[in-house]
Amino acid sequence: MLLFTAASLSPAQAQDEAVDWEDKPYIVEDGKVDYGTYNGFRRYHNTCHTCHGPDGMGSTFAPALVNSLKDMSYADFAATVANGRTSSGASGNSVMPAFGDNVDVMLYIDHIYAYLKARADDAIGRGRPDRIDPENDPVFQEWQANQ
Ligand code: HEC
Repeated sequence: MLLFTAASLSPAQAQDEAVDWEDKPYIVEDGKVDYGTYNGFRRYHNTCHTCHGPDGMGSTFAPALVNSLKDMSYADFAATVANGRTSSGASGNSVMPAFGDNVDVMLYIDHIYAYLKARADDAIGRGRPDRIDPENDPVFQEWQANQ
């Protein structure tokens, strides 16, 4: 699993040790987002939106992840996506498929988390966010250094 280290935090975040990656996995500056959050938007809308609705808003099939991520831990989020989940209720079974074997999802699980967390925190609105200039984006710089 790809986990960001402290090196991926912006200088402002790194100074404030109280803010760890799990609580604020995204950077938003002047309404623009870091590479991870932007990629998370794209990945979410490749795979998850069909059930969870555009922009994480939910649908009749599946819960609004903008609400779920308000108090779900990163570990619970990642485990739910990898393993799936089935609940039975009055209206029948509710099935979240397991994505553990889907590299298009699991390689970018941190990015999908960052995007949904930014949405849950109201740090970004609906629709495709603009990206921070790659030269000023520490998340992009680190991603590129690791290629
Ligand atoms: C085929 C439909 C479907 C797809 C596609 C899907 N989900 Fe789900 N997901 C569900 C359903 C239904 C539930 C509720 C399961 C339950 O009731 O236990 C759920 C639950 C979840 C939960 C738990 C929410 C909570 O409030 O506890 C998370 C997190 C989640 N999905 C993330 C994702 C992500 C990320 C993707 C894309 C990689 C995704 N899902 C794709 C149907 C789907």
